[in-house]
Amino acid sequence: SVKVYDNQQLASKKIAQRIAALIKKNDESGKKTVLGLATGASPIKVYAELIRMHKEEALSFKNVVTFNLDEYFPMKPDAEQSYVTFMNRQLFDHIDIVRENVHIPDGTLEEKSVAEYCLNYEKKITFYGGLDFQLLGIGRTGHIGFNEPGSAPNSGTRLVTLDDLTRRDASRDFGGKENVPTKAITMGVGTIFKAREIILMAWGKKKASIIKKAVEGEISSDVPATYLQLSPNVEFVLDKEAASDLT
Ligand code: F6R
Repeated sequence: SVKVYDNQQLASKKIAQRIAALIKKNDESGKKTVLGLATGASPIKVYAELIRMHKEEALSFKNVVTFNLDEYFPMKPDAEQSYVTFMNRQLFDHIDIVRENVHIPDGTLEEKSVAEYCLNYEKKITFYGGLDFQLLGIGRTGHIGFNEPGSAPNSGTRLVTLDDLTRRDASRDFGGKENVPTKAITMGVGTIFKAREIILMAWGKKKASIIKKAVEGEISSDVPATYLQLSPNVEFVLDKEAASDLT
């Protein structure tokens, strides 16, 4: 389904409220909440609202386990552009999450050990009972996580090569496209699909054309986000601008 809000602020609040409700419901039945998280510009206001709820409304993350979608490869965790740094700054440093419950793909591995590491990432998700909720942004290539065009619907966590457009879009953070890593470790489309609830967010005019393809286009590996049309558990949450090309 598709939900359109007047602005990103309001939409982000709604998403944060949904996550908070899920955490509280699971807390009441003594269960952990397993969240799949995204980085990038899109989730920043969602995380800000979760932090506010933690500080002002005593929302606790003590029983929350998180798995991030992706990390650049190679990437040192303490680098400015790492997704570890991003998550710490935008969320984890400001809430009461247990550090051992945080999982972000490791960008420091030797390439030969990545395949086994990725299998283990999948196993850990399964160990915790699977993802209760997955938050997604969408890249202008149609990627979810870093599942670029060509990704298979049943793909798992793996090392991928980033699309040129994705590297161009990241070039500002790295001071030039040549500094953007060519690879990343990402959860697969299949990994994402197993989540019991999925929200894909998109804000602003520059996402309008890819949102039209993702929501209304033919389902194809050319635009991996189109696979989400196949799941009844997916909600596309958009602001007016991102929804402006929809018929
Ligand atoms: C980030 C991720 C990516 C981004 C996408 C949109 O963890 O998996 O798929 O969600 O590239 O990025 P922004 O939100 O910066 O437009």
